[in-house]
Amino acid sequence: MNTDSLFSPFSLKSLNIKNRIVMAPMTRSFSPNGVPTADVAAYYRKRAEGEVGLILSEGTVINRVSSSNDANVPHFYGTEALAGWQNVINGVHTAGGAMGPQIWHMGIMDNHHSGWVPSQPFEGPSGLNRPGNNNGNTMTDSDIADTIAAFGQAAADAKSLGFDCVEIHGAHGYLIDQFFWDGTNERTDAFGGKTLSERTRFGVEVIKEVRRRVGDDFAVIIRLSQFKPSAYDNKLAATPAEMEAWLSPLADAGIDIFHCSQRRFWEPEFEGSDLNFAGWAKKLTGKATITVGSVGLTGEFMAAFRGESSQPSSLDELLRRFDRGDFDLVGVGRPLLADPFWVNKIREGRTDELKGFTTAALGELVM
Ligand SMILES: Cc1cc2nc3c(=O)[nH]c(=O)nc-3n(C[C@H](O)[C@H](O)[C@H](O)COP(=O)(O)O)c2cc1C
Repeated sequence: MNTDSLFSPFSLKSLNIKNRIVMAPMTRSFSPNGVPTADVAAYYRKRAEGEVGLILSEGTVINRVSSSNDANVPHFYGTEALAGWQNVINGVHTAGGAMGPQIWHMGIMDNHHSGWVPSQPFEGPSGLNRPGNNNGNTMTDSDIADTIAAFGQAAADAKSLGFDCVEIHGAHGYLIDQFFWDGTNERTDAFGGKTLSERTRFGVEVIKEVRRRVGDDFAVIIRLSQFKPSAYDNKLAATPAEMEAWLSPLADAGIDIFHCSQRRFWEPEFEGSDLNFAGWAKKLTGKATITVGSVGLTGEFMAAFRGESSQPSSLDELLRRFDRGDFDLVGVGRPLLADPFWVNKIREGRTDELKGFTTAALGELVM
């Protein structure tokens, strides 16, 4: 297995990285009261020492009272939390890495198993986090305007702290995705509508505000998924034409890189072609893309939450698609959560040292 092509540098605006491996954003809930600790900084620094090209942070929530359902998920606002993030990026840069925060609003959530709830009800397009399940408020025009502004502020703060890029979390059934999906967006105003392209409006406004706040030269990524944890087989876009109607307005609003989340990267997006989501996104928009989903592992991540282990697997199919030009960057989640030195092992062909993934790695910050 020749992995050389994954070790060529990549540059786009503010982003200059030494290889094509991206650490996927992974919620860790190790930031008490929303403040990333010295351990969190050491955990990210370790991945930079392990030669990860670009680190995307765990989802970190924007300044809205009910943007989170978990007191230990980091904030991306407030003096203390931003000082914690300053430590994180300083450590990553010292180790020669690059990093962007994944800015996040969870939208309507189920209550967390810890029993913690925010001091105001969850908020979303129509109070729903899946069809028929109401657990919060329908956002008013001023809620929407304030939320868009809070995304912009978080992006501006990412830039001033010295991060290399920012990623907007638009995937996996959270706030922005709740606007995209007709199963959770029943609005009849300008933020709703029968077509996906109409329901893209909220995402577009978030991106425009982020772009306005960071300027033209700062790399802006958006993470998207067709599936939701509550609906694995969901396809927001059922055809390439619908996908184009979804992604093109996001690209025009200021996206540089589409981070296309799948559970298994090798699954074709539409019949009649083996292109995956990242492959189609690149073909339809001409923008750079990141693929992700079970790279180097036998099993997928949602099953991991149910206790399933995964063994290391070959990168041949990934490399076939990468070398064909389907995508520019490769997201790797669980392997990097379990092993900070996964990238070195891949580069040096030390496949017998790869560890695979067990759920034990979820309970600690593996150093
Ligand atoms: C513990 C854990 C936490 C995750 N948290 C996030 C998150 O905060 N934001 C996000 O976009 N995806 C999140 N994901 C999904 C990962 O970014 C990634 O897409 C997924 O794990 C598939 O990649 P993998 O098969 O290489 O693990 C999480 C995954 C795991 C395992």
